[in-house]
Amino acid sequence: MLQKTVVLLALVAQVLMLENGLLRKPPMGWLAWERFRCNTNCDEDPKNCISERLFMEMADHLAQDGWRDLGYTYLNMDDCWIGGRDAKGRLVPDPKRFPNGIAFLADYAHSLGLKLGIYEDLGNFTCMGYPGTTLDKVIQDAQTFAEWKVDMLKLDGCFSTPEERAKGYPKMAAALNATGRPIAFSCSWPAYEGGLPPKLLIGNFGLSFEQARAQMALWTVLAAPLFMSTDLRTISAQNTDILQNPLMIKINQDPLGIQGRRILKEKSHIEVYMRPLANEASALVFFSRRTDMPYRYHTSLAQLNFNNSSMYEAQNVYTGDVISGLHSKTNFTVIINPSGVVMWYLYPIRKLGTPQH
Ligand SMILES: *[C@@H]1O[C@H](CO)[C@@H](O)[C@H](O)[C@H]1NC(C)=O
Ligand SMILES: *[C@@H]1O[C@H](CO)[C@@H](O)[C@H](O)[C@H]1NC(C)=O
Ligand SMILES: *[C@@H]1O[C@H](CO)[C@@H](O)[C@H](O)[C@H]1NC(C)=O
Ligand SMILES: *[C@@H]1O[C@H](CO)[C@@H](O)[C@H](O)[C@H]1NC(C)=O
Ligand SMILES: *[C@@H]1O[C@H](CO)[C@@H](O)[C@H](O)[C@H]1NC(C)=O
Repeated sequence: MLQKTVVLLALVAQVLMLENGLLRKPPMGWLAWERFRCNTNCDEDPKNCISERLFMEMADHLAQDGWRDLGYTYLNMDDCWIGGRDAKGRLVPDPKRFPNGIAFLADYAHSLGLKLGIYEDLGNFTCMGYPGTTLDKVIQDAQTFAEWKVDMLKLDGCFSTPEERAKGYPKMAAALNATGRPIAFSCSWPAYEGGLPPKLLIGNFGLSFEQARAQMALWTVLAAPLFMSTDLRTISAQNTDILQNPLMIKINQDPLGIQGRRILKEKSHIEVYMRPLANEASALVFFSRRTDMPYRYHTSLAQLNFNNSSMYEAQNVYTGDVISGLHSKTNFTVIINPSGVVMWYLYPIRKLGTPQH
């Protein structure tokens, strides 16, 4: 039986500020929002409410269950942690849910080799109605985050005007920089609606197995940040395998950092995505938007615009199967499940036409 809460990779559709060199590769980690939302009811739901306990338990799992060692190092809080501002105007967390404060949580994350991400909103309130960072609070809040030793800030844009955001986002970037602490900055300005990376499959709470595999493959080929938003205490072995696939992660973190794109959209509702990788390799994702039955897609590398100068080999990223002896003209068939993908890691074996020794 499929678990109700399956994997969710929240696509961070924000602009990732790259100037400070922190986010050259897509960041990886865990974030609270898609799974735990704004659940602040610790009396009735102590295990799942937005609290110190939740983040510490997730940190423990990131460290113990292999996640951190594969690169999932960010532990990202989201909205609903704020209690208010103190007499000096400094942000303070909710005292009941975060009794030891955010600096304690950051220390805890760091002690496990993790990084802590925090959330605020440029505007009068956060999206869920907690105190926001108004323009006059930008510098103070940046300093507070740096003193707490947080490592990433997501700055939302609710309850502000476009003009305020046009001032406030660069101001925050500068204020974070001025603290001297490297803090990765993610924000939604300028709005990249429909831009990069596309919001393909966002927001499905209960994804099927095929959908989860497709989402992971597409996020990876689009070089999108890999943030899982799922309960690491109860995640299934099947979903762990999807998220911990070493070849998938290697492709996501490819050193060239080139974003893949859709190269074909067939009338049969099959789409093909390609991402160029280091060492002349590429990732290919064959994605089916069909809902009927597994589809036999016939193609060749030549039809996918690969040139004829090489012999290729492909490794199926999910099954591990190796397909050898592919010439650009070789016809092959991939069988793609409805809403599913077949993903290949494709690499040249030898140049044709070069002398054999
Ligand atoms: C923010 O609050 C100020 C002061 O109450 C108000 O004048 C302004 O309209 C508010 N801005 C937004 C975008 O709600
Ligand atoms: C601040 O910005 C400069 C110039 O872009 C950069 O070299 C430096 O690493 C940044 N420092 C921090 C702490 O982000
Ligand atoms: C075609 O092959 C040449 C030589 O190996 C290579 O430099 C070039 O990038 C290839 N073009 C494409 C579109 O793959
Ligand atoms: C590759 O294609 C070009 C043009 O289609 C052709 O001239 C060339 O001989 C081909 N090379 C190989 C190794 O098949
Ligand atoms: C590949 O399939 C096409 C039809 O899709 C056919 O014309 C071509 O001869 C086939 N090539 C080989 C090498 O079998």
